[in-house]
Order: sequence, then C-alpha cells, then structure tokens
Amino acid sequence: MPKVYVFNGPNLNLLGLREPAVYGHHTLDDVRSMCERACAEHGVTLDFRQSNHEGELVTWLHEAGAAEQRGEALGVVLNAGAYTHTSVALHDAIKGAQSTVIELHISNVHAREAFRHHSYISPAAKAVMAGFGVAGYPLAITGLVNAAR
Ligand code: DQA
Repeated sequence: MPKVYVFNGPNLNLLGLREPAVYGHHTLDDVRSMCERACAEHGVTLDFRQSNHEGELVTWLHEAGAAEQRGEALGVVLNAGAYTHTSVALHDAIKGAQSTVIELHISNVHAREAFRHHSYISPAAKAVMAGFGVAGYPLAITGLVNAAR
C-alpha cells in the first residue's frame, strides 16, 4: 500500500491549547485520527509526524522524496507552520528531493498579518490549502491521492 506523509512544523504540537480562536480546539492527536480515517478510506497508509526543528523537517522531506521516487509514497501534506514564511531550506528540500507536497495551513494566512502572506513553500508545492481549519488535513490527503492516481 502506498504511503502518505503528513508533516507538521513548529508549535503544532500545541494545537488545541494554542490560540483556539485561530486554530480551533482539536489537538494534534485528533488531527492524526482524522488523517488515519482519510487514509484508510483511500487505501493508503499514513506516516504522521511533528517537529519543532527545521533541520528535522528537511531530513524528513528528503526521506519522503526518496520513498516517492521508489514508488512507495504519493507525497506529503506539509503544514510547515512559521517556517513557511522563513525557510529557504524547506523550499530547497522539496525541490531537491522531488517530493510532491501539498502546502497546508489551518488558518487563512492571507487574511492575517502581512508577514504570513509570503510562503517559501508555495513555489515548490503542487497545491496550497488554507483556511478550512483542521478539516483541511483530510481534504488535502484526498487531493494528494486523487492527483497521484
Ligand atoms: C499555520 C499558519 C502559520 O502562519 C503559523 O505560523 C502556524 C500555523 C496554520 O496552520 O494556519 O504555525 O501554518
């Protein structure tokens, strides 16, 4: 069964506690369960991770790209958190590893502060999703699976 990766960046471990007016009340474990259900429906396996460290996310993107090149994975749903707006390294990792990435944000970053309007991920991503709350995660998985098949 092919694999779908869901990678979460900094502070997303605080989901449910962190600014609930912006990010809602669901925890990251709730999001993992939603993703597990979506993957089961699509007949793919889920590899769900979170890191507060940019370099770890870079290494994971390399791993996901290599798995995709071997035909073992379909790609990555990536919520890079604040690294979205700062990280040339994540941009380069997606391109370098030739990974299919769906950029995801829980909030509509374009309706928020100006510093959230620029993304280093978007030019390297296949698609971008923002503003559906945590419901965006299973939607992004469906989009990734449909794009791959
Ligand atoms: C976020 C939006 C980012 O601007 C922010 O830094 C996050 C979460 C989102 O899911 O809406 O950490 O990626």
